[in-house]
Amino acid sequence: MASSAASNPRHIAIVMDGNGRWARKRLMPRGMGHKAGVDALVKVVQACADRNVEFLTVFAFSSENWKRPEEEVSGLMSLLLVALSKHLVRLSADGVRIRIAGDLAHVSPKVRDALLDAEQKTAHNSRLTLTVAFNYGGRWDIVQACQKALREGVAPEALDEATLARHMAMAYAPDPDLLIRTGGEVRISNFLLWQCAYAELVFSDCLWPDFDAAQLDACIADYRRRERRFGDVGADPAEPLAS
Ligand code: IPE
Ligand code: IPE
Ligand code: MG
Repeated sequence: MASSAASNPRHIAIVMDGNGRWARKRLMPRGMGHKAGVDALVKVVQACADRNVEFLTVFAFSSENWKRPEEEVSGLMSLLLVALSKHLVRLSADGVRIRIAGDLAHVSPKVRDALLDAEQKTAHNSRLTLTVAFNYGGRWDIVQACQKALREGVAPEALDEATLARHMAMAYAPDPDLLIRTGGEVRISNFLLWQCAYAELVFSDCLWPDFDAAQLDACIADYRRRERRFGDVGADPAEPLAS
């Protein structure tokens, strides 16, 4: 692919981090931060749809988040159920298609059913695809893609990048153009390891519950200033380097 100035991102991925610190700053339990995080997410989904972003992928629960205290984990599972029952109808009316990426074989049947129900009820929508990464890990995704390919009988020498890409959890979406992480940490935390090979990374100190349309615009503006080279030379390779 040739190098190009970044235009509007088609696919934005977000590590929604900082809920716990947001709550702690307010002397509230961490669960209140997660609750405020859901409200931020609903607004950001709307903002992305308004900006003609086609795919938004959010990290909601990682394969490593099971390490958290049992009370927080069960609180997050309940919050997911509440959030879906509260927001699903509105999101669907706004043309949002919900898809899930993650290992649903190891979540409770109640949570699994709610997630699959959300996928099914919004399957006809096409304005914005919101992928909720739930019990997701980038390493899990690569392993499950290999397993699927092997089960299909793909020979080792036929296992190339395109074959693996077809089996990744988000095979329906182009790779993310822009990966945003809120909360000030500068790491990927096992999010979309395969898919973000060439994503532009933007790290924001904003804690996720405070993230809004203005913050999103600032991240997109940062993205638009980048030159995406994909390994090619820059826009004007003949230009001598400044000494
Ligand atoms: C991200 O916020 C939400 C999830 C991981 C579910 P955190 O809960 O990690 O918030 P901090 O990083 O502790 O502030
Ligand atoms: C990443 O945040 C996972 C989600 C936002 C769901 P974490 O808070 O779990 O990441 P680490 O532990 O700081 O790397
Ligand atoms: Mg965190």
